[in-house]
Amino acid sequence: MRQLKCVPSDTRRIHPQFPEEEHEAIADGRGGKVQFLSGYVVAGSELMEDQMRLLILGTGGMANQHAARFKAIEGVSVVGGVDVVAERLTAFCTEHGIANQFASLEEALAWGEFDAVANVTPDNIHHPTTLLAIAAGKHVFCEKPLATDAVKAMEMTEAIERSGKVGMVNFTYRNSPALQKGRQMVLAGEIGAVRHVEASHLQSWLVGRHWGDWKSESKWLWRLSKKHGSNGALGDIGIHIVDFASYGSGLDVTHVFARLKTFDKAPGHKIGEYDLDANDSFTMNVDFTNGAIGTIQATRTAAGQMDQLRLRVYGETGSIEMIYDTGQSTLRACLGEDVHTATWRDVPFDPVETNYQRFVQAVRAGRTQEPSFRRAASIQKVLDKALASDLSHADEALK
Ligand SMILES: NC(=O)c1ccc[n+]([C@@H]2O[C@H](COP(=O)([O-])OP(=O)(O)OC[C@H]3O[C@@H](n4cnc5c(N)ncnc54)[C@H](O)[C@@H]3O)[C@@H](O)[C@H]2O)c1
Repeated sequence: MRQLKCVPSDTRRIHPQFPEEEHEAIADGRGGKVQFLSGYVVAGSELMEDQMRLLILGTGGMANQHAARFKAIEGVSVVGGVDVVAERLTAFCTEHGIANQFASLEEALAWGEFDAVANVTPDNIHHPTTLLAIAAGKHVFCEKPLATDAVKAMEMTEAIERSGKVGMVNFTYRNSPALQKGRQMVLAGEIGAVRHVEASHLQSWLVGRHWGDWKSESKWLWRLSKKHGSNGALGDIGIHIVDFASYGSGLDVTHVFARLKTFDKAPGHKIGEYDLDANDSFTMNVDFTNGAIGTIQATRTAAGQMDQLRLRVYGETGSIEMIYDTGQSTLRACLGEDVHTATWRDVPFDPVETNYQRFVQAVRAGRTQEPSFRRAASIQKVLDKALASDLSHADEALK
């Protein structure tokens, strides 16, 4: 956030949106310079909305979402882009009107004129680059999965928490109003104690060409290759559906029994430099904290489903179904007397804030919101146990 020279007596309640304590100022020890923790700073007696300057690291497919979503938020400027592929970087910065281009994060950090980094690099690049950004005192909005294993994810979590900066992870489907409202209903006891959970994340880009040709495009091929840092469908969309199932049911996973499957997709299981050895489908049996059980599954081979997450939470006195399907959310419930006729009814919901909006608010308030690095690390632990279970053919407990 931009810093402003002023004296501590300027500290006051300056915006009704935030509680008073979030507006305290902290001296940085350099001649009375004060950094305000909120998104609003005092200039004399005037109130000004602070500008948040964002650097986008990795300018491939998903970075287009980040650029569009962050630019749409008042007071946020995307000031720089970084990519190791020069043509991609230039095309991206031109398209989104971004003034500064860098060939590496190190180069961008040497320049330093930004407050936060949106890390949109491939999965195995998140860990080293996020640690560098944290060491340089930047807030980080990292793409999922936070890291390729829980040890690295915890290292990143501890680093961001020590730094006092904001660290959040883009669990995109938290933006679904059906998930948010469904969770509220579960937590309010509308279906009684949860007994059984059924969750699936279905994509079909290995079958259909709606998102391009996976056989020739690097953005799909790295997702199929362990040595390119991918944990396959488990790491890519398993992370989403485990978070969706756990968040929507309000429960944490305690035990996992998983099967992963990698299908034959090309001669010699290889295309160019990419070994096609990362899983394409998985199924998991899980236990939850309260003794409920459930199944969680995902695949990239579900023709007819572009991007569908479906969660059904069955409780003692009713059921709730939360669906996100390629941009559309629906919420249904079978409650009260309807359980005797198995009647489901649509439940209305209000729009919710996106992770992009929550991250900007968090930076302005100086306080991390969910989904945090810590949450992403805890979901990563479930994925690690699923990988272990597939190898051991045994049930794996989370500690
Ligand atoms: N939240 C979601 O719903 C969602 C959706 C899609 C992708 N993602 C995540 O976003 C990330 C990027 O995915 P994508 O589909 O955009 O991949 P992509 O391959 O299209 O883009 C990644 C970009 O990062 C660049 N890059 C690689 N190493 C780099 C480095 N060291 N420094 C700077 N740039 C580097 C690549 O050149 C490429 O342009 C992945 O972690 C993926 O899991 C999340």
